[in-house]
Amino acid sequence: MKANCWSYVWGLLCMPADVLLSTLTGECVHDSFSSGGPKVCVVGSGPAGFYTAQHLIRVLPVMVDIYERLPVPFGLVRFGVAPDHPEVKNVINTFTQTAKHSNCSFYGNVNVGKDVSVEELKQAYHAVILSYGAEGNRSMGVPGEDLAGVYSAKDFVGWYNGLPSCQKLSPDLSCETAVILGQGNVAVDVARILLSPIDILKKTDITQPALAALAESQVRRVLIVGRRGPIQVAYVPRPRKRLTELLLKTALEVPDEKEQERRNKASRMWAFRFFRSPVEILTNPDSSRIAGIRLAVNRLEGSGERARAVLTGEVEDVSCGLVISSIGYKSIPIDPSVPFDSRQAIVPNKMGRVQQATGLYCSGWLKTGPTGVIATTMNNSFDTARSLMEDMESGTVDISAAKPGSQSINSLLKKRGVKPVIFSDWEKIDSVETSRGEARGKPREKLLTVEEMLQVAHK
Ligand SMILES: Cc1cc2nc3c(=O)[nH]c(=O)nc-3n(C[C@H](O)[C@H](O)[C@H](O)COP(=O)(O)OP(=O)(O)OC[C@H]3O[C@@H](n4cnc5c(N)ncnc54)[C@H](O)[C@@H]3O)c2cc1C
Ligand SMILES: *[C@@H]1O[C@H](CO)[C@@H](O)[C@H](O)[C@H]1NC(C)=O
Ligand SMILES: *[C@@H]1O[C@H](CO)[C@@H](O)[C@H](O)[C@H]1NC(C)=O
Ligand SMILES: *[C@@H]1O[C@H](CO)[C@@H](O)[C@H](O)[C@H]1NC(C)=O
Repeated sequence: MKANCWSYVWGLLCMPADVLLSTLTGECVHDSFSSGGPKVCVVGSGPAGFYTAQHLIRVLPVMVDIYERLPVPFGLVRFGVAPDHPEVKNVINTFTQTAKHSNCSFYGNVNVGKDVSVEELKQAYHAVILSYGAEGNRSMGVPGEDLAGVYSAKDFVGWYNGLPSCQKLSPDLSCETAVILGQGNVAVDVARILLSPIDILKKTDITQPALAALAESQVRRVLIVGRRGPIQVAYVPRPRKRLTELLLKTALEVPDEKEQERRNKASRMWAFRFFRSPVEILTNPDSSRIAGIRLAVNRLEGSGERARAVLTGEVEDVSCGLVISSIGYKSIPIDPSVPFDSRQAIVPNKMGRVQQATGLYCSGWLKTGPTGVIATTMNNSFDTARSLMEDMESGTVDISAAKPGSQSINSLLKKRGVKPVIFSDWEKIDSVETSRGEARGKPREKLLTVEEMLQVAHK
């Protein structure tokens, strides 16, 4: 597989990056900039942060600094993308090239909104681009949601992918049946990880504690529950549609005799359950462990993509020991000075320009909401970079006066006792992780705590 390759459909379809890039760039290089050139900073080092930075430094003589909360870069490419889809992570090669460009710097371990404010960044830079993703969860709003044995997919994914804040999750996998609420790509990732043979998983960069827990797992049956029907699942932007079609084909096709026999012998199975909404998590009377879930039976009103699920009044109880709610991610505000639309959970913007805030931009999931694949994020990040370039050219963003950039921010951070992790520090972490992985026949063994990451980075 080529290094330069974006996976569109959770790994089904790839396209070389340069084909896209040549159609998307084409702006001229400006010569009217102040001495030293404009200074721009990006908040967040996921795909949105890196693609926005990449587009800016390829086209303009600007300096771009990327600030990241964690000591390690790449956002959901590291902490979201499933470990058994390594080809998706090839985008890291492109991001690394960007980070090593002489006009780009990476500062990890800097929590914007806490260690430094957006206002301080605006003082130090000509423009600030917010690309900090969607790190909040949506709750189901049903009784029992907080019981042991009920997890959000976000935390479950963070657990098996080594997100430090999720390591204490250690989910109980001693039950036979797991119910996943929601039928998107993430739900399917979680189902696959729960059911994959350990021999496959142990060759991936899944964390060692997750591998150990999955090796002991008793989970045999996974139900993927959705409010509406197969047609509504299938009606989503193309990338998801392809995946879903594939799944539906497997789920709905009447198997021939040989296939039926194979399925009967299978030790593990999964199924979609359509037209069901969660009502309540059920417990055994004598314990706080979950015993099952009560689902409301829905019918559809209207047809096609717009059909609404309406309750029929009927309910159905499903016994299970594990419930994972995969009903979406959600952006959260990180700084009170930044406009935030809490209904849509995005920063309100026009083509990436934050409304009523000159010099402030956004890209990625913070701009669009948590939908789409890495390629979607790339497109919308390039759009934001283009908006900023237009504004610098038109004078809407004033770049005539020199700005201090990272110099002033670094001295603020120093005063506050924050020591950033620069890209060469990350490379130390990377090399420790890959050599620990090598010893186990895995591509990488991730460090699992911020403390250990910092220790290796600042050695
Ligand atoms: C479970 C899961 C699996 C996925 N699998 C695939 C797949 O296989 N293929 C595919 O194409 N797409 C996949 N996607 C979609 C893809 O991950 C997103 O499109 C993309 O990561 C969005 O990029 P982003 O930069 O907006 O957000 P993120 O990737 O979340 O990056 C945001 C970054 O900002 C940082 N940050 C947060 N708060 C702060 C702060 N206060 N200060 C500084 N930094 C901060 C975060 O630490 C993070 O590094 C998946 C998504 C999920 C959730
Ligand atoms: C980096 O930016 C400076 C202006 O700040 C510019 O002169 C230089 O050409 C840029 N370097 C590259 C490699 O693009
Ligand atoms: C997500 O939900 C969990 C459990 O409901 C909660 O502990 C956690 O604080 C939430 N995280 C965010 C970022 O809202
Ligand atoms: C990204 O943009 C290109 C060019 O505009 C387009 O052809 C492609 O379909 C877009 N991809 C996604 C996933 O939105």
